[in-house]
Amino acid sequence: MPHATVTVAMTADLFTPLSLRATTIPNRVMVSPMCQYSCDARDGQATAWHSQHLKSRAVGGAGLVMTEATAVEPRGRISPEDLGIWDDAHIEALADITAFIRQQGSIPAMQLAHAGRKASTARPWEGGEPLDVEAGGWDVLGPTETPYPHRNGEAVPTQRMSHADIDTVTQSFVDAARRADEAGFEIVEVHAAHGYLLHEFLSPVTNTREDEYGGDFEGRIRFPLAVIEAVRAVWPDDKPVFVRISATDWLADRDAWDIEQSIDFADRAADYGVDFIDVSGGGIHPDQQLPAAGPGYQTGYASRIKRETDSEIAVGAVGAITAPEQADSTIRTGQADMAIIGREHLRDPYFTLHAAHTLGREDSVSVPPQYRRAF
Ligand SMILES: Cc1cc2nc3c(=O)[nH]c(=O)nc-3n(C[C@H](O)[C@H](O)[C@H](O)COP(=O)(O)O)c2cc1C
Repeated sequence: MPHATVTVAMTADLFTPLSLRATTIPNRVMVSPMCQYSCDARDGQATAWHSQHLKSRAVGGAGLVMTEATAVEPRGRISPEDLGIWDDAHIEALADITAFIRQQGSIPAMQLAHAGRKASTARPWEGGEPLDVEAGGWDVLGPTETPYPHRNGEAVPTQRMSHADIDTVTQSFVDAARRADEAGFEIVEVHAAHGYLLHEFLSPVTNTREDEYGGDFEGRIRFPLAVIEAVRAVWPDDKPVFVRISATDWLADRDAWDIEQSIDFADRAADYGVDFIDVSGGGIHPDQQLPAAGPGYQTGYASRIKRETDSEIAVGAVGAITAPEQADSTIRTGQADMAIIGREHLRDPYFTLHAAHTLGREDSVSVPPQYRRAF
């Protein structure tokens, strides 16, 4: 009897490069966007802190280093100390950071953000609650006038966005993308997760508008898709665009955003030229019922989007990915195309170099020559 021919599929692992358009990310580790609240002059300018924070993760071998939520306009900052990209004056300091990240062989990416009705709060280590005008706060924008229900019972005055406001904010995203390109970023990620402005339009929990930007699924996705379309139009054709979403609002007791809508939205985003969906969760309302945040607690959502979308859109999983074997198996089992790692990168900027050692893959990473004697 002749032996049957066995075809072994080429399986990607944590150290397989990922090509999107003309960009090749050297491995599947992405530094998740993480606010540093460190523009002490409250001017959106990258400081020595941002410089060291982002550059050292590139030295640590992450294939993709994403900035924190970077505000496209001052009203869109979570706190006054947020990083900004609303002015050409922000480009120079960022360009220094992207050049260094590239020198390490890593890909620099920027998350473009608008905090909507969750803007104007103190930074977390100063309480995180709404700031009044005397303390440097401002009135915020949302799909309706309903403010975010902050834990301390305070409300930030919230303005329902007019059609003119929708155009203004869309243009802010476009101008921000143009600046991000000038600053040398290879990827921009449109932040449509965590209860910030674009998520506030997606979710029926916060979007109760009765015009064409509210109502059914088509209405609620209209503004986020318009932003995506406008960003894609100015972002160079050969560079990828990512979108971060909350796969679910974790509000099963009411009409809310859920994984089925996320799958449909991912396909729609792909139609508009989005290359990658970064799959997070929650943030729209404090009543959310969080799942037990055990290892990879959100990976199942990324996996469903990967399997159930009609498009070939790439997908990233985030949420309590901390161990090299876990990150590697997320890729090997085809659950996601990228392991997105947040807090573990705060504990260990050299996560990727350590993972290569643990997994016996030192040959797959390039240790900076200055540090080779240690690895
Ligand atoms: C300090 C800190 C700041 C964060 N800032 C952002 C942010 O700017 N944009 C964003 O999309 N998510 C932000 N997040 C969420 C993380 O990107 C990530 O999705 C989350 O921490 C779960 O991943 P992890 O378990 O690997 O930390 C932040 C998380 C932390 C801990």
